[in-house]
Amino acid sequence: MSAPTPVVIVGGGIAGLTAALAAAPAPVLLLNRARGAEHAASALAQGGIAAAVGTDDTPQAHARDTCDAGSHRNDRAMVDVLTEGAPAAIEWLQWQGVAFDRDEGGALRLGREGGHDRPRIVHAGGDATGAKVMEALVAVARRSPHIERRAGVDVDGLVLRDGRVCGVCVTNPDGTREALHGRAVVLATGGIGGLFAQTSNPPDADGSGLALALAAGAAMRDLEFVQFHPTALALPGLHSLPLVTEALRGAGARLLDADGNSLMDGLHPLADLAPRDIVARRVWRACREGGAWLDAHRIGAAFPSQFPTVFRACMERGIDPRVQPIPVAPAAHFHMGGIKVDADGRTSLPGLHAVGEVACNGVHGANRLASNSLLEGVVFGRRLGRLLRVLPESGNEHGRFTLVRRKPSLDAASLAGLRELMMRAMGPVREGEALRPALEECAALAELGWQGGLARAMVEAALRRTESLGAHFRLD
Ligand code: SIN
Repeated sequence: MSAPTPVVIVGGGIAGLTAALAAAPAPVLLLNRARGAEHAASALAQGGIAAAVGTDDTPQAHARDTCDAGSHRNDRAMVDVLTEGAPAAIEWLQWQGVAFDRDEGGALRLGREGGHDRPRIVHAGGDATGAKVMEALVAVARRSPHIERRAGVDVDGLVLRDGRVCGVCVTNPDGTREALHGRAVVLATGGIGGLFAQTSNPPDADGSGLALALAAGAAMRDLEFVQFHPTALALPGLHSLPLVTEALRGAGARLLDADGNSLMDGLHPLADLAPRDIVARRVWRACREGGAWLDAHRIGAAFPSQFPTVFRACMERGIDPRVQPIPVAPAAHFHMGGIKVDADGRTSLPGLHAVGEVACNGVHGANRLASNSLLEGVVFGRRLGRLLRVLPESGNEHGRFTLVRRKPSLDAASLAGLRELMMRAMGPVREGEALRPALEECAALAELGWQGGLARAMVEAALRRTESLGAHFRLD
């Protein structure tokens, strides 16, 4: 009997790893463009994981905050799956070896972030949650005989047999190309922050998987909704900026303008903890009027232990955040839109699944609630894994094969231009006057490289939505 065909999972962040682990014992081939898991956007996540695990909390309250942040464009059934599944997701992560932070009495320590009506966020290693979770999942994946991992592999094509996705085309680290057969293909390639001039994502999070699905004709959803994080460390000229976690504001840090006045007082009842889109627009405006700073001196001596990642990033740049305000700027952070999927990650193309940030099942609506993204990866990754476990072999050996390839990449200069264009036209504040010429420029760039085609689809979606909603704010 021949060996069973593996499921091919593209992307080794939290969603891809979770799906791979949950698919056991079905064989999985896990392909990663980055050479190490520490380069995945998941590993940079500082905020933590939201879950109704507190004694006074409920999944319904978590769901309410998720929908309020999402401007009620959320798919309510998906929100219930997410928030009801959150406590079990935390438990599952602990079984995988994640040690979440606890208080003196041994209970999970709960932090608060923007848009949450109470402390609800669990952390591991303070602001190093993403890194700790990834470390644990990678260690388990290494020990799992059903998972074969390959790193440094660029997936730039899909193989279809009789209209069903049944494999991928890859370029290996040594430049050789090959087709890899899969019982099904899962895209877990993350977000699109790398298409913007300033992002909190690693530059690799550039929408490569989304562009591949677009080229193959998969249905897309909500492409216009891009979340900007209000507080990336402002480092002029840099593309990928260190995040200054929102949990600092949960612990009392405040946003100030150049004169030391509060940016958020009077603007929203939750002030510095208002939903992220509101804070991001305020910081965006302040940056154009002299700058924005986060005053986190209240954290005091606990800074290095509670927020080691931010502390290190600041100190490396000569800023002591215990006594000096931190210069901040908005940066592209999370894509609410993506490949249209159902609760089990099925796309409109048979054989193709998607999970995590590249996918869109409507759970985040028009704006994601803080600390719901790692959670999404675990809850929906586990669901998808359970489906992959029982997927039958893909059938007809003799069908007709077709190949869909993504266009080549833009050259460095064109890509830099596109990133500036996206930041100007598709940033936290948008208007038709900027979007229309941007669409023409993207259409021209789409002839040259896949990033142009993806940007064009996003700008088209933004132009179609003429009203403001969540993270999509139209000045006109
Ligand atoms: C943060 O730490 O501020 C980001 C958390 C998130 O994106 O949910």
